[in-house]
Amino acid sequence: MEDAVDGVLAGARADLERLVRIPSIWANPAHAQDTRSSAEAVAELARGAGASAVRIVAAAGGAPAVIAHWPAPVGRPTILLYAHHDVQPTGGDEHWTSPPFVPTQRDGRLYGRGTADDKAGVMTHIAVLRAYDGRPPIGVTLFVEGEEESGSPTLPALLHAHQDLLAADVVVIADAANPSVDVPALTTSLRGLVDCTVEVAMLEHPVHSGMAGGPMGDALTALCRLLACLHDEHGDVAVPGLVHGTSTATDVGDDDGTEATFRTGNGVLEGVQLIGCGSINEHIWQRPAASVLGIDAPRVADASNVLVPRARALISLRIAPGDDPVTAQRALTDHLQEHVPWGARLTVAPRTGGAPFALETTGDAYDAARRAFSEAYGNEVREIGMGGSIPFVAQFARAFPGATILLTGVGDPASHWHGIDESLDLAMFGRGVLAEALLLAELAKG
Ligand code: BES
Ligand code: MN
Ligand code: MN
Repeated sequence: MEDAVDGVLAGARADLERLVRIPSIWANPAHAQDTRSSAEAVAELARGAGASAVRIVAAAGGAPAVIAHWPAPVGRPTILLYAHHDVQPTGGDEHWTSPPFVPTQRDGRLYGRGTADDKAGVMTHIAVLRAYDGRPPIGVTLFVEGEEESGSPTLPALLHAHQDLLAADVVVIADAANPSVDVPALTTSLRGLVDCTVEVAMLEHPVHSGMAGGPMGDALTALCRLLACLHDEHGDVAVPGLVHGTSTATDVGDDDGTEATFRTGNGVLEGVQLIGCGSINEHIWQRPAASVLGIDAPRVADASNVLVPRARALISLRIAPGDDPVTAQRALTDHLQEHVPWGARLTVAPRTGGAPFALETTGDAYDAARRAFSEAYGNEVREIGMGGSIPFVAQFARAFPGATILLTGVGDPASHWHGIDESLDLAMFGRGVLAEALLLAELAKG
């Protein structure tokens, strides 16, 4: 198997570069056509890897997804291999060391938007199918969606419309990360997400800040006071009614040096304190987090001496495994309504959402994965939680309650997912492909 995988890695890396050159930012309507091109490129790769049927599908108003099939030899199970081909916006091309959509290698890593999240996941699956020469030892369905970074709003409709095509015994979601480049992880939990915009309105129009300021407040100050209600004095989320979980993951405790690793890994400025109580991992994996992602208000350069009549912010609430997006959204809205200062008019508009998930990590498929991944990486598999969200997981589990879900991936802490200079460690990419190829062989043994 190792030789077969070695033989396909150079081609897989070249095709990864091809995919990375397509700016498939589905969340930005200006890139809708690019996202369609990206789906076509994935479909072509699937055809080239010997798929018997390849479809590009979309629900009404949704992004194009690719479904491809390699039939199961008689008596063998079928595995669904998941990844997503849409990517995050760049955050400003000028901040990147090399342009985000020009894949560039430096020190064994390939840089570019989507190199890790999640075009590496797409290419892991394609490379495995190539390593088997298009004849995998078990049935394979490849499912590559195009709106994950938008919260997968039409995915339930797609799962419903193509239920027969997508049914599988085991699902591998290659969209998570490993603790380091040579230590494989099976991710056991994800947080959910509840996003909303809040608008605070105080005045019908801007007024002279000297004439009216004093008795009359401004909307931007009101918004700041409102946003301050998200945390208590320790920095823990102060919204009542949210789930604060306790972990079943084996590695929930902080390792030696985790705080230092966390600080350097994330570029935390010297002297800046971490907020909230408890260990870092427990906090990220098992507890809610509230962040303000953006504010619409006059730019400083354009500001004048007027009281700002209205201001808007985007709040992102990560919710713990066991919580529910609908009740969490309601809890957040109620909390904001209770804390809006000075009688300001508050409007809360929900945006994207995704359910959290805790995976059941027992059974034959998990045993097979532990064997395959330990062998490929030369290190024991670790079970870790993850603070990010993948709406597909809960949606798929609801549609196919009998399937075993495995959460894998080829990201590492240096991948800078969603950030500037996103990258993939190419040696780990090779180990990830081998691990998944070995997993298929293990599952074929029954
Ligand atoms: N692959 C990530 C989620 C992730 C990151 C899982 C790191 C494990 C480790 C995924 O593409 C993502 O970014 N999801 C969004 C979902 C949201 C739009 C509902 C997220 O977490 O922000
Ligand atoms: Mn992803
Ligand atoms: Mn992402």
